[in-house]
Amino acid sequence: VDVDPSAYEHGLVDGRPRMYTEMLEQPASVERALRGRLDERFATAHLGGLEMDARELRAVRRVKILGCGSAYYVGQMGASLIEELARIPADAEAASEFRYRSPVIEPDTLYVAVSQSGETIDTLLAVEEIRRKGGRVIGLVNVVGSAIARACDGGIYLHAGPEIAVASTKALTTMNACFALLALQLGRVRDLSVADGRRLVAGLQNLPAQIEQVLEGEERIAQAAEALATAESLFFVGRVRGYPVAREGAQKFKEISYRHAEAYQMSELKHGPLALISPEVPTVAIVPDDELTDRNVAALHEIAARGGPLVVVTHPGVDLGELRAERIDVPRNERELDPLLLTVPLQLLAYHAALTLGHDVDKPRNLAKSVTVE
Ligand code: AGP
Repeated sequence: VDVDPSAYEHGLVDGRPRMYTEMLEQPASVERALRGRLDERFATAHLGGLEMDARELRAVRRVKILGCGSAYYVGQMGASLIEELARIPADAEAASEFRYRSPVIEPDTLYVAVSQSGETIDTLLAVEEIRRKGGRVIGLVNVVGSAIARACDGGIYLHAGPEIAVASTKALTTMNACFALLALQLGRVRDLSVADGRRLVAGLQNLPAQIEQVLEGEERIAQAAEALATAESLFFVGRVRGYPVAREGAQKFKEISYRHAEAYQMSELKHGPLALISPEVPTVAIVPDDELTDRNVAALHEIAARGGPLVVVTHPGVDLGELRAERIDVPRNERELDPLLLTVPLQLLAYHAALTLGHDVDKPRNLAKSVTVE
């Protein structure tokens, strides 16, 4: 996995764009990220690269995650995992804003920098700012030996393999899995029970096969994408765990289809954006089977009542009632791991919308793979 990405050329692989082959590599990438890091006996994870012993991990009072673009959205998913499993207050912030607000750096906060390339300038400068003020930063980075990896106190390599397409896919999914490992280890040195630890270990082990299952549903997702591609503007909505998933879905859609896609919290729709819903403005809704399903389905009825077309990414068995919607089912895992799996069909959705529109998905206009200058 320590391959220099520059050794890989842009261009089609077996007649397919890079983004496509990278999406298909996701089960293998996640499997590599988990390999040797799960401990079934003690129902935990071992992340030696953190360079922190159990006493230091127990002393963490807060976690602050920093990344840009999609890495920031996965950081939000990571913050939920850490809060849910380790019960440590955690949040994510755009690394590009962080240093401009003269942040207070606390000694008992664990800072986490997330980056596929390890070269994103805003994330690197945030790491340097934190270290200058005496904070401890760990990196979740894909490229071995990159600037961010070197600037951190320790970290977790993603082992996703080289990622070339501008639209990040396998690196993000692997980041998500690494956040789950971190949350599990932080949880198990605190109050997470053995039973919950076992539940999560098994859930993580199931991920590669379940990602494969989502990828097998490509044809149905491609049909939904064709219908969405004709819309000038669309919403992606989700609630709590589903909201960062919606943000990432909208981001991917914008990047390669060039359509206006806006992510919203499902609960905020009635506070403004519902005014925009019409037959011309479709909504992609993230509706996992959890304690919020009924509320989410009620919000979908509000959208349908205004003629808004719906694509619902959900779990098998979720009852959508009489709702007219394109439905994409994703296999169930443990609730904490839902966001990882729910994100995968949104990559295919963006990919097929971009193909329908005839865009070069590997080289989207105006964008570079990593932003290394301010
Ligand atoms: C993802 O599809 C984007 N191309 C972009 O938002 C990216 O995630 C961001 O620029 C951060 O890059 P990094 O992970 O290499 O730091």
